[in-house]
Amino acid sequence: MNTINDLNIENKKVIIRCDFNVPIKDGKIVDDTRIKESLETIKYCLKKNCKVILLSHLGRIKEEKDLEKNNLSPVAKDLSKLLNKKIIFSEKTKGKELEEKIENMNYGDVLLIQNTRYEDLEGQKESKNNSELGKYWASLGDIFINDAFGTAHRAHASNVGIASHLPSALGFLIEKELKALSTLEKPAHPFIVILGGAKVVDKIGVIKRLVTKADKILIGGGMAFTFLKAKGYEIGKSILDEGSIAFCKEVLKDYSEKIILPVDFAISTEYSNSGIYQEKDIENFAKNEIGLDIGSKTRKLFEKHIEKAAIVMWNGPLGVYEFDKYRKNTDEILKYLVKNKIKTILGGGDIVAAATTAGYKEKIYHASTGGGATLEYLEGKKLPGIEVIRRK
Ligand code: 3PG
Repeated sequence: MNTINDLNIENKKVIIRCDFNVPIKDGKIVDDTRIKESLETIKYCLKKNCKVILLSHLGRIKEEKDLEKNNLSPVAKDLSKLLNKKIIFSEKTKGKELEEKIENMNYGDVLLIQNTRYEDLEGQKESKNNSELGKYWASLGDIFINDAFGTAHRAHASNVGIASHLPSALGFLIEKELKALSTLEKPAHPFIVILGGAKVVDKIGVIKRLVTKADKILIGGGMAFTFLKAKGYEIGKSILDEGSIAFCKEVLKDYSEKIILPVDFAISTEYSNSGIYQEKDIENFAKNEIGLDIGSKTRKLFEKHIEKAAIVMWNGPLGVYEFDKYRKNTDEILKYLVKNKIKTILGGGDIVAAATTAGYKEKIYHASTGGGATLEYLEGKKLPGIEVIRRK
């Protein structure tokens, strides 16, 4: 497969599709991990004396009012600080103004184009991979590098569209992601999977695929309650994904020894951070209680299973991470993995954000920049943003 090293990019106009879809609050970037992870490819192109043209989406654009909050200009500022150089920003996603800016670029300049999804406002041209739009963006450069792993599960004009019209390759970020995630195809054993997050339905594909490969799947987060309900437990007012009960019953029947469920929880009578911290065994759950985190006994049980792991794959926090009282056991298990130097892959935005908040991200073997893309990869699906280049 074409990677950036396979192409002669020296002195060329290189278009790089990045995933700068970062959380922004009041015009400020809350977490710029994805921008930092894109630097290696951008710097490499600068070293090769390229004119660097960057494209990314940000959020989703359905109506006029979505434009301002999804303006990509804060990314230009952040990038400028990280690269210690001026970033030319084009407010326009196409047209004369953008073309003039590109014409006026010197070798070694970096230009960032406004959010590609501004083109979604009329006819969803970006998201529906409008062929004219892909062709137009391709006409702005000589070479296309796709480095947006987080968007690789989408077939949009700014990835699949452009790649169809230019010599293309994958950037270093995608290369790194594929290298790490492909270790899970024939994993070393014991291979332990940790799954959290709210709903089982979002993870059905991953469970189906990984249950045959993993030695154990440890289930926490809101999704544990649907499994426990399927086993007949009282789960009080905890989150239930009713439509997935039948699936859980089936998995528990076929793989009862592989699926490890929580034995206790941190509970409250309200869905908030303000209740008194209290833990209860699953057998003692009352009808008015809500489980907000796994409990200490479960944490120890999970640690026992992780202890000898050759590799761990973790998707989704084990408690309600927005409430600081209920992030404790997710943080403790992250700490345990780091302290014991257990090779771990974190897949999915929420668990990576948790590791960043708790200060463990840099010590983890691989923290994926993908959310949906990582899940689809783990489900064994082909990612169109990568396939289009693989086929070249
Ligand atoms: C992500 O954050 O998962 C990617 O940037 C893709 O965003 P999307 O789900 O809006 O396509």
